[in-house]
Amino acid sequence: MKRWLLSRRLLIQVAIIGKKGYAMDLTTKYMGLSLKNPLIASPSPLSHNLKHIKELANSGVAAIVIHSLFEEQLFEEEHNRASIIESYSDSFAESLSYFPEYSLAATGPTPYLNMIKAARAETDIPIIASLNGSTMGNWTLFSKEMEDSGASAIELNLYSPIMDLDITGNEIEQLHLDIFTSVKKAVSIPVAVKLSPMYTSFVNVAKKFDSLGADGIVILNRYIYPDIDLDTLEVTSTVHLSDKNEIRLPLALISSLRNYVKADIAATTGVESVDEVIKYLLVGANVVMTTSAILKKGLHYVNQIISDLNNWLESRGCGDLNEIRGTLSHSQHDDHNYYRSDYVAALQKANRNPYGWKN
Ligand SMILES: Cc1cc2nc3c(=O)[nH]c(=O)nc-3n(C[C@H](O)[C@H](O)[C@H](O)COP(=O)(O)O)c2cc1C
Repeated sequence: MKRWLLSRRLLIQVAIIGKKGYAMDLTTKYMGLSLKNPLIASPSPLSHNLKHIKELANSGVAAIVIHSLFEEQLFEEEHNRASIIESYSDSFAESLSYFPEYSLAATGPTPYLNMIKAARAETDIPIIASLNGSTMGNWTLFSKEMEDSGASAIELNLYSPIMDLDITGNEIEQLHLDIFTSVKKAVSIPVAVKLSPMYTSFVNVAKKFDSLGADGIVILNRYIYPDIDLDTLEVTSTVHLSDKNEIRLPLALISSLRNYVKADIAATTGVESVDEVIKYLLVGANVVMTTSAILKKGLHYVNQIISDLNNWLESRGCGDLNEIRGTLSHSQHDDHNYYRSDYVAALQKANRNPYGWKN
């Protein structure tokens, strides 16, 4: 609480000083990777082909996390491999080297690996591969092939909608930690973990990943909740693009975690403009990721955000990002009372209806 107030005062002082015309240094480090600015393109349809990846790189983002390779795809690959082996087994029983190359290339992860290779060759920014799954299995070892294809780092997405009433929170957490350990052991490049908010104690789980050597923690994975189509009476799963109101949960979690983990933190979800980028940096994010804003506004918008960030820093006389990063993060580990009093005060204020709601 004290630090929160002190930091705010510091920022106000900085705002008053202001140094016009000062060249801003937006460079930053993420998991040891040197970045020209803190804006990273998160996995999206924009990384499904090389042309778009090159356009993204030219737009000014400092790194690209390409779309995920899913555990299910790798399982399918293994399954197809097995069927092909079986169908060829009469004539080619003893050797896999007789396999028609094109069959495996078409079904398996080869196009993904080729994309990593091409993206590395054709761009000059880090290319981060994304591996996405939720069960223990050999698919995690695929991270090594991503590394061998030139990925600068791996982002492990642990998207796990658990509907089994007999699985406990501890079991889910241990499963996720084990999956992470398996990937981490397989590669020598940095590994980040993209987490969902669905853990009983998010900050505790994040700290455990940190203890296991996570190089980055990506906060938060955005859940895709099903809806119901009342015309067809079918359950539907549609991806909606985010808006700025969604930053509050990741903002609070990053703020709580920043001073207690060694891992770098990547903020993701809800960036609509430079305002959200600044807020995420203020609570301690090392980098900020974006997808929806680019999909809604176009690639030119990246440049706009970066230029707005530069101007904002300049207007407050800050020479580089370290002058603001984490200045509004919480430092009280057990600040339970602060959060409670903030919550109660917010409800009490809302009950007085300063917003003009219809009563
Ligand atoms: C169409 C679409 C495809 C996505 N594909 C992936 C993916 O393959 N892997 C992944 O980890 N996240 C994926 N995401 C999630 C984004 O990377 C990002 O985390 C999410 O959209 C929240 O960020 P935003 O608010 O900036 O959009 C996808 C999002 C969208 C909208």
